[in-house]
Amino acid sequence: MIRAVITGTGSALPARRVSNAELAEQVDTSDEWIVERTGIRFRHLAGEGETTGTLATDAARAALEAAGRVPDDIDLIVLATATPDQTFPATATKVQAMLGATDCVAFDVAAVCSGFLYAVQVADSMLRTGVHRRALVIGAETFSRILDWNDRTTCVLFGDGAGAIVLEGQESEAEGGRGILATRLHSDGRYNDLLYVDGGPSTTGTVGKLRMKGREVFRHAVTNLSAVMTESLGIAGLAADDVDWVVPHQANARILDATARKLGLAPDKVVVTVDRHANTSAASVPLALDVAVRDGRVKPGDIVVLEAMGGGFTWGAAVLRY
Ligand code: ACO
Repeated sequence: MIRAVITGTGSALPARRVSNAELAEQVDTSDEWIVERTGIRFRHLAGEGETTGTLATDAARAALEAAGRVPDDIDLIVLATATPDQTFPATATKVQAMLGATDCVAFDVAAVCSGFLYAVQVADSMLRTGVHRRALVIGAETFSRILDWNDRTTCVLFGDGAGAIVLEGQESEAEGGRGILATRLHSDGRYNDLLYVDGGPSTTGTVGKLRMKGREVFRHAVTNLSAVMTESLGIAGLAADDVDWVVPHQANARILDATARKLGLAPDKVVVTVDRHANTSAASVPLALDVAVRDGRVKPGDIVVLEAMGGGFTWGAAVLRY
């Protein structure tokens, strides 16, 4: 049986880091309000020359180095983003060109904040067929470019960045073998109006700005995330007690706390980076995973749950033995 194993992680952030206090100089908000409601203290914002594609490429290079691989080893690039460099072609193909990975399949996946979970399931399925052997799975975003900087209810919540993993198909017969054990995705298109961008090539011909009814999104997030985590653990034949680490989408510290509480998970098993990165949409899960791998928390053999929810709504979880 082939299993998809993470052999390296990487991440990249724009050079410019912006504190809540700096934001409050331009937006009618305060450090106190943002920290209390969201847990966010800093976000990185892309500057000139920094794009979803360049951040994704930097994260991919770091993941390749950690995996001991070179671009030519890669035969699949799946990139999750809602903020591509161009309407087309896919940003994944730009990353492919920038890496110099000449012989591989590269495409984007769009599921907003859940995008990385969707990309993981797509890559996992393609690797398990044996047709593809080594994938780069990337989440990368520059949400700062679709924020309405006059809307304090949304612009304080997001940041830019990228995270990447190298995912390799490996033969694994062993019961305790490493790899992705279960994935589960959901979508419900009825909730478009709660979280969306008010533009697009086929409607307004503009890029548009992010719009959100935050309070309603919050309510759905906790319910959907705890349900899909329980569901994916069940598919893997595991229970909440077996989990070493949860690496959640970093939207809001209160969503992370409420979801962990609902599952009976100790808060110290939840990797939190929302304080320093804010919500980086599809980048947030691989960014947080890279932080926890590099600081030594997530170790080979650990049971790790990845989870996310975002616009659509879309939501999903993956269970893996790291
Ligand atoms: N600074 C200061 N005051 C603000 C700000 C701000 N940045 N934004 C809103 N306020 C004010 C509002 O105007 C309102 O004032 P009023 O009572 O005088 O009308 C007050 O704060 C309360 O506003 P609410 O929107 O009710 O605040 P709430 O407690 O719901 O927190 C928040 C808002 C943080 C957006 C919360 O609803 C949330 O986190 N929702 C989840 C949204 C999310 O994370 N989405 C990301 C994508 S989906 C996902 O990733 C899961």
